Amino acid sequence: MENKIPTHVAIIMDGNGRWARARGMPRTYGHAEGARRVADVTGAAGELGIKYVTVYAFSTENWSRAEEEVGALMKLFRSYLKTCTKDADENDMRIRVIGDRTRLDPDIQDAISRVEEHTRSYSRVTLTLAINYGGRDELTRAVKKLARDVRSGSLECDEVTPETIGSYLDAPDIPDPDLLIRTCGEQRISNFLLWQLAYTELYFTDVAWPDFGAAELREAVEAYGNRDRRFGGVK
Ligand code: FPP
Repeated sequence: MENKIPTHVAIIMDGNGRWARARGMPRTYGHAEGARRVADVTGAAGELGIKYVTVYAFSTENWSRAEEEVGALMKLFRSYLKTCTKDADENDMRIRVIGDRTRLDPDIQDAISRVEEHTRSYSRVTLTLAINYGGRDELTRAVKKLARDVRSGSLECDEVTPETIGSYLDAPDIPDPDLLIRTCGEQRISNFLLWQLAYTELYFTDVAWPDFGAAELREAVEAYGNRDRRFGGVK
């Protein structure tokens, strides 16, 4: 049978806290181990021929977690953004960020801009980090921009199509995900890529994110390949 490889895989990296607790360790230990899996899984995705990987690293809701946990996650982003360029150089990996970065500390915003600029021409695989990201927040920001353009006269209200709306989102040039993976048992979208997931195949696994590696990714891709994809109407 033809081996179907998804072009774009989106991942909700769930279960870091539970994984750590099961080992008698603090939640932040789970996040640190989870951060390591991002590089492993993106590397494995590149090997499989997957072109885009988007990971849910920090949601707009995550600010309500304990200050210590939020701080630890921000520290992990800082350190990842510092070290990822070496990996990007070696693997022809472009790195992008979606979400409202204006709420992040200025040094993190600067690090994001630097990494995005440094990896702009890389094209084997694109890793998109969703940081301070929420699907409703992204759509709200898109609608605000669109409304401003209608008000200023650069866009006609009657010309607005689904493609127009898509073009106002954070990464309009990235194709919609073909496959969404969520780890650690929950079966929810949790405000991730609400617009982009309209036709995406959903894959849920009980494996916690810190235990998710190349073999688990291959399993998910295989399950995707065995599914009979239908886009409504085409039977
Ligand atoms: C969900 O697990 C995971 C998060 C809220 C954060 C995801 C972040 C990482 C994997 C690390 C940082 C990533 C990069 C790119 C450096 P949870 O804490 O909700 O787990 P639980 O449901 O078991 O409590």
